Amino acid sequence: MTDTWIILGASSTIAKAFTRSVAQQGAAVILAGRRMDDLEANAADATARGAAQATPVAFDARRPETFDGVLHAALASGGRLNCAVFVGSMPPQAAIDADPALIDGTIADSFTGPARLLQMLAPHLAEQGSGAVVGVGSVAGDRGRLGNYVYGAAKAGFATYLSGLRNQLGRSGVHVLTVKPGPVDTAMIQGLGKQPFMTTAEAVVADIHTALRKKRNTLYTKRIWWPVMTVIKLIPEPIFKKMSI
Ligand SMILES: NC(=O)c1ccc[n+]([C@@H]2O[C@H](COP(=O)([O-])OP(=O)(O)OC[C@H]3O[C@@H](n4cnc5c(N)ncnc54)[C@H](OP(=O)(O)O)[C@@H]3O)[C@@H](O)[C@H]2O)c1
Repeated sequence: MTDTWIILGASSTIAKAFTRSVAQQGAAVILAGRRMDDLEANAADATARGAAQATPVAFDARRPETFDGVLHAALASGGRLNCAVFVGSMPPQAAIDADPALIDGTIADSFTGPARLLQMLAPHLAEQGSGAVVGVGSVAGDRGRLGNYVYGAAKAGFATYLSGLRNQLGRSGVHVLTVKPGPVDTAMIQGLGKQPFMTTAEAVVADIHTALRKKRNTLYTKRIWWPVMTVIKLIPEPIFKKMSI
């Protein structure tokens, strides 16, 4: 049976690299996002690369009324369902300090919007008894840092949600992979200056496919972030609260 990949946040740089990779494998892709012109160009590219089908669908993580359309398009494809979540936004912490209302959208983009859609999809995945969910979190979710703790809190919530979803869907043979990238060279971190252990969208996608093949639960990419975050998580709070990392 052909795989269908629902790609949430399909205009993201990492999502586009992922779409290219699964299109080359002949999968059908449901490209869900806010910018229809970009999604249509993306769909044409996926088709040219070998996608069985490429369907752009309007999706806004802050507008749950758009979620049914994504699900219907996926079910109509007739393929084995899979979902990869790339949605996310990271307003500067200073902007959030000035306008705390920005918290709502930040949490909806990285956590509650995708979680609600995945919850709608879950019974279909459980019924088919196979398939995969790829949820992109961030190393920022591992500890609340001075510079981006609202974004970090959203990613932490999403990671905990994915852990529970894995517990639930794993019993039906569905694989749930949590991805925790460090800095990736995309639009999201433009203007933040030089970042440690930077990687590319293509390298992240190659790591995702390896982790899917090996049925990993959690992927740190680059791999160096696993020992780095293990150490950061061990720093006692009285010391951590004085640090500016
Ligand atoms: N780049 C990094 O250093 C890094 C590190 C760790 C984790 N991540 C995570 O990786 C994922 C992909 O990010 P990226 O690096 O590829 O950056 P990106 O190109 O800026 O992608 C973010 C995507 O999220 C979409 N989005 C934001 N709010 C949305 C909403 N309400 N509804 C629907 N779509 C929405 C954006 O859509 P529009 O195109 O419509 O704006 C954009 O396509 C994100 O979850 C990000 O948090 C990135």
